[in-house]
Amino acid sequence: MAPRNTDIIPTVEGLAFGGDYNPEQWPRETWDEDLRLMREAGVNLVSVNIFAWAGINPGPGEWDFTQLDAIMDLLAAGGVQADLATSTASPPPWFSQAHPETLPVNPEGVRLNSGARAEYCPHAPVYRAAVVDMASRLAERYADHPALAMWHVGNEYYRSCTCDFAAEAFRAWLTERHGDLDGLNRAWGTTFWSQTYSDWSQVLPPRICAETPNPGLLLDFRRFSSDALLALFRSEAEAIEAHSPGKPITTNFMVTGNFTGADYHRWREHTTGPNRLVASDHYLLPDDPIGWPAQAAFGADATRGLADGDPWLLMEQSTNSSAWRRGYFAKRPGDLLRHSLSYVARGSEGAMFFQWRASRYGAERYHSAMLPHGGPDSRVFREVKQLGAWLKLLGEVKGSTVDSRAAILLDFNSCWAADTPGQPSSDMTTYPELRRWHAALWRRGVTTDLVNPEWDLSRYTHVFAPHLYLLDDDANLRAYVERGGTLVVGPYSGIVDSNDHVHPGLPGALGGLMGIRVEEFVPVPKGDKVALDNGWEGETWSEVTHALDAEVVADFKDYPGTGAVFRRRLGDGEVWYLATRITDLDPLLAAVGVTGEFPEAPENLELVRRSHEDGRSYLFAINHSDAPANVPAAGRDLLTGNPWAPTRPLEPGECAVIRED
Ligand code: GLA
Repeated sequence: MAPRNTDIIPTVEGLAFGGDYNPEQWPRETWDEDLRLMREAGVNLVSVNIFAWAGINPGPGEWDFTQLDAIMDLLAAGGVQADLATSTASPPPWFSQAHPETLPVNPEGVRLNSGARAEYCPHAPVYRAAVVDMASRLAERYADHPALAMWHVGNEYYRSCTCDFAAEAFRAWLTERHGDLDGLNRAWGTTFWSQTYSDWSQVLPPRICAETPNPGLLLDFRRFSSDALLALFRSEAEAIEAHSPGKPITTNFMVTGNFTGADYHRWREHTTGPNRLVASDHYLLPDDPIGWPAQAAFGADATRGLADGDPWLLMEQSTNSSAWRRGYFAKRPGDLLRHSLSYVARGSEGAMFFQWRASRYGAERYHSAMLPHGGPDSRVFREVKQLGAWLKLLGEVKGSTVDSRAAILLDFNSCWAADTPGQPSSDMTTYPELRRWHAALWRRGVTTDLVNPEWDLSRYTHVFAPHLYLLDDDANLRAYVERGGTLVVGPYSGIVDSNDHVHPGLPGALGGLMGIRVEEFVPVPKGDKVALDNGWEGETWSEVTHALDAEVVADFKDYPGTGAVFRRRLGDGEVWYLATRITDLDPLLAAVGVTGEFPEAPENLELVRRSHEDGRSYLFAINHSDAPANVPAAGRDLLTGNPWAPTRPLEPGECAVIRED
């Protein structure tokens, strides 16, 4: 295992606290008030220049750094550090007008207009050159600026395009992946519906077509688009490194909702390790049947997985409602404190927000902020100050890590493949199922990492694969089990290979490991349940499945197969296979023997430990429930400075961070 990178933002003392700061939207007088209030709130890091391309580079060949110089100097004088962004996520209208071929084309073939943001084609040569030029100029100018803490490349990479540049780049990418046209035809199974390509010029990105498109094409296009965004990120990061060696570089991943816009696992090599750090943006979605505390924990655990277990940074969250959500929702008093603490508990080196001061104009003028339209005399700002005070008290936590003993498998390719049209059930999507399992484990007090099935799993006692639809082979999972791990696999897993071809003999990639054979899929209509003979129920999906070399733990009551829940011992470990989505996961989790460290702790008492290599450890306790709950730890609560005894109840809504004896 590579050594941990535990000092991800060396120049920031203690934990980071702040948000996106857009002073270019405000008159100069406001800046002084900003700095005064930032100091009052304990802000020590702000993200600047995220969307300021138009100010720095107002026209072709025109450069003006006066305002950014002033902002950086203001921050340095005010003792606030800068996460300096490259501003390349939003080319200004002059750029789009001068280079209309850089505007993205959607699948309908419509070239989008300027007027919003992220209006670029990742494959357009002019745009690609412009972002490297921009990153170089900024790095050259600000490398030694005293305010500079780190570099922030782009913003939430997600854009894809189907223009002619995209088509050309896609063909080159496909040649690399599949060798030649024969290889491509085999990989995409083009004998189906007479889709055989006889010349590369016939190969197109997924533009709208008459009927269900080729799923192999859709899957490869998502991989290709993710790789193109990674190439953009790398090109800027390398340009920065040339002038500003040794400064941390990041980009903000988006882990809100179904966060599968890019295959972040393929980014790992370029976003972790020396002078790189993983940062994420997590906006809690309202109307979540699972609830916000578990949703926040999921975003944090997913990010920690992307960071390979290293500390990471929550770059954006909201203090209250988000502008882009239709319909109003508001966080309850104290939520922003509890949520922020949960991210920190799970490895974030601080809590950052979008944005510092609410904008008076623009598309996000009603997005909540640290300093709301209501001004500093407001509940939100008071909570912001409280959070700033807490984070200051938690400075010694910086650099500690979370040691999860359980993992949930996440493979972006598998999520994408399961989403392609033509599936037997439109309800067998992956992301909600990962959330459901994560929440069930969260409720049991089990902290999980979300990791790739091909990574080293040896540190985990339990690995859960709720829905691993795409898998080439079982080698890594088999090795994990044989060495003593417990692997639990949900239904409709191991079905297709990386070309999205159904494996012969179901479930092809996993049948041998599981000791089972799936004869037939039986999707379960929404709202219906299937009964198991041990009292459990299943939903959404079921399979007529036979045990070949596995013990039947439970059978369907009404199905002609030979089982619904299977278990097989293998080497020093064991595998479980589920032929339906078990409705109540808790009895199953009990049966496979996964428990949190504090099995007596009530549900909704969140307990997570961070530890330093030298043994110092911190138990974060967050009571999300309506009842007092005992926190079975002894030490000192860093938030109050008072000793903590195992009998001390944590009141509803209360938090503690106990430096353990
Ligand atoms: C994203 C973007 C920000 C802002 C927020 C609003 O995370 O990175 O610029 O638009 O959403 O929620």
